[in-house]
Amino acid sequence: MFQFLSKPATIFTAKSRPLGTFVFIVILCFLGLYTLHFPLSFVPTSNSRNASRFQHLFLSSASNFTISSYLRILTQHPHLAGTKLASDTTRYVLNHFKDLGLETRTVNYKTLLSYPVYASLSAHFSDGSFLDLPLTEMGGSEQVGQDVVPPYHAYSPSGSAHAKAVFINYGLEEDYLALGLLGVNVSGCIVIARKGVLTRGAVIQRAEGNGALAVLLYAEGERFRNGFERGTVMTGIGDPLSPGWAGVDGGDSLELEDSEVLKRFPKIPSMPLSVETAETILDLLAGVPVPQEWRDTLRSRVKGVGPGPAVLNFTYQGEKKVVTIQNVLAIIRGMEEPDRYVLLGNHRDAWTYGAVDPNSGTAALLDIARRYSLLLRFGWNPQRTIILCSWDAEEFGMIGSTEWVEQNLVNLGSKVVAYLNVDCAVQGPGFFAGATPQLDNLLLEVTKKVKDPDSEDATLYDKWAATAGNSNVIERLSGVNSDFAPFVHRAGIPSIDIYYGRDFPVYHTAFDSYKWMTEYGDPLFWRHVAVTGVWGLLALRLADDSVLPFNYHSCVDQLQGYESFLSNLFSGTVSLHPLTTSIRELASAAKEADDELKKLRFHEAAGDFIELKKRALNDRLLLAEKGFLDADGLPGRPWFKHLVYGPPADCESNLVFFPGIADAISQSTAMSKKEGRAAIQHEIWRVARAIQRAAYALRGELT
Ligand SMILES: *[C@@H]1O[C@H](CO)[C@@H](O)[C@H](O)[C@H]1NC(C)=O
Ligand SMILES: *[C@@H]1O[C@H](CO)[C@@H](O)[C@H](O)[C@H]1NC(C)=O
Ligand SMILES: *[C@@H]1O[C@H](CO)[C@@H](O)[C@H](O)[C@H]1NC(C)=O
Ligand SMILES: *[C@@H]1O[C@H](CO)[C@@H](O)[C@H](O)[C@H]1NC(C)=O
Repeated sequence: MFQFLSKPATIFTAKSRPLGTFVFIVILCFLGLYTLHFPLSFVPTSNSRNASRFQHLFLSSASNFTISSYLRILTQHPHLAGTKLASDTTRYVLNHFKDLGLETRTVNYKTLLSYPVYASLSAHFSDGSFLDLPLTEMGGSEQVGQDVVPPYHAYSPSGSAHAKAVFINYGLEEDYLALGLLGVNVSGCIVIARKGVLTRGAVIQRAEGNGALAVLLYAEGERFRNGFERGTVMTGIGDPLSPGWAGVDGGDSLELEDSEVLKRFPKIPSMPLSVETAETILDLLAGVPVPQEWRDTLRSRVKGVGPGPAVLNFTYQGEKKVVTIQNVLAIIRGMEEPDRYVLLGNHRDAWTYGAVDPNSGTAALLDIARRYSLLLRFGWNPQRTIILCSWDAEEFGMIGSTEWVEQNLVNLGSKVVAYLNVDCAVQGPGFFAGATPQLDNLLLEVTKKVKDPDSEDATLYDKWAATAGNSNVIERLSGVNSDFAPFVHRAGIPSIDIYYGRDFPVYHTAFDSYKWMTEYGDPLFWRHVAVTGVWGLLALRLADDSVLPFNYHSCVDQLQGYESFLSNLFSGTVSLHPLTTSIRELASAAKEADDELKKLRFHEAAGDFIELKKRALNDRLLLAEKGFLDADGLPGRPWFKHLVYGPPADCESNLVFFPGIADAISQSTAMSKKEGRAAIQHEIWRVARAIQRAAYALRGELT
């Protein structure tokens, strides 16, 4: 706290904008006033409930300088989860929170991570000659430090393969069909795939199913041709040794050989390749010519898909280790409702330096901490508790956040207002957001208050939602690709995920560095400022609005959209009537919640106990999402409880909602028509009952 006061320069830093100077002076005036009356003004003042004043103060305390300096420190060295260097980064984040005077906590787990030991790849020719192929990022135009972990796929089994190579495009089922038509059988071969819609794990699973011996996976791209995209190939989410419960020291843990554990790992070894190495191999392939449909989108020259004639010799050795991981939390206690929580989360661990992924988000989190503690100095006391969460081991499968959700399931489910996630805050230009629909309106409102970083006089909203049309611009959170997944899919917590840019070329490579960020991602750090503004302001609204800014009409609209999509898809073969009825019930519950809100606005009509009545309405609003959870979860994947948003088992499914229905549709192709329809109908009923539960919760009355 003291240190904080002695360094005002880092609190209000150079904003070259005229408004900045004005705000600076205004803030200094406030500071003068406050230090006169309340030397350490943590004393609640009459102003402490003026939420909009603190929202203004939050926005005007933005600084590209502080964010960039946090990012520079966070990216000084690599910090792969479970390593010595990662604990230095943990300490930096923890000390930052402590130095600001915030209450902190570290929560440790024991989990199974995976590291590379040895890898080699060579191509062998019929004349006996051979070519060693590089599997490191050394030798490019950029310097790669020796602390950077060599390229690998986490949880790949150790193994060797000596076989002809085949190019399999994206490794989709349709790609194997195309190969089959050309008479190419990948069984007994090493397959080379480019990354497309499938997750790494899914590419390998399909290759395994088709009899391949090993998989080499590359990401197409122009720049950074010698970057290797590291990543996990484990399926599912969280620590593999404690599926469904928290992996604590001395707690219950499965054996590595347990079938529950083994089924989450591939059985054939795999490895990422750089574009350069992949093209060297593709150049050596002959055989059947590449199908035209593949060629249309291929950025590399490929003469034939193989098999061979070149024979590859591939070896990978890795080790799986139980290590300690650490989540760091900073807590700002709510004044009136300390037992209601607003969570802001970002992971801290990175494959390499992590300038984009994830520490652009960490820098934003640290800046929010700085600005919130500034607000506290000015007498702010949030109504509800705010927790800043810095997760560990996300890259291995959302492990830090998942273990914490599993450990705190009941408290989280009943008391968390919302979870606000930022993973890669800035990957390039353009704002993107995902949300559970009751938060759509809030998200749109907040982006109207934040300046667009890439234009002079526009708000972020003007450049984002207004240009694209409000609807459809917000994505939904069905994917299992960042830390919102356990909060939405397991705990049913209303959530938001925001970021700038997508598909950046240095993803998971050694070149995801501070230098890349300053050259390409966000040279002046104003996109970072914009994400920080949206993120921090969302939390302020959720913590301080006396009635939660939730709108369930957006949920209803979205569900109606899904219903009409299904109606076109099924054209009468199954009944959507249960869905129609339950959505209508949710609509009328949403209207009742509105009516209650209107009553509460006019105190006389509301009568006595106004605060308790608000709290009762808020409970209805925050519990409604829990209706979408089902105790049995998705068929065959009981960890996933949410029936509206979650990952379909078949990641080639084009349904990004109702994962249970999506699964039933995929599985029905292998059934008789009658059985298939019955399976789909059953899942429709389950979703309808879930929507009905949400409606009951929102209505807040027993039947
Ligand atoms: C609350 O803050 C806003 C913005 O700073 C200000 O315009 C308003 O007058 C304040 N209201 C009260 C009651 O202090
Ligand atoms: C590919 O070859 C393997 C082994 O020879 C065989 O078992 C499999 O049926 C073949 N697949 C196809 C689609 O012909
Ligand atoms: C294949 O690679 C492994 C590991 O580097 C090596 O031990 C083996 O001798 C190689 N095999 C051939 C045929 O070159
Ligand atoms: C912050 O923004 C100003 C004005 O755009 C710019 O001159 C300055 O270089 C930026 N600071 C950093 C650290 O990027």
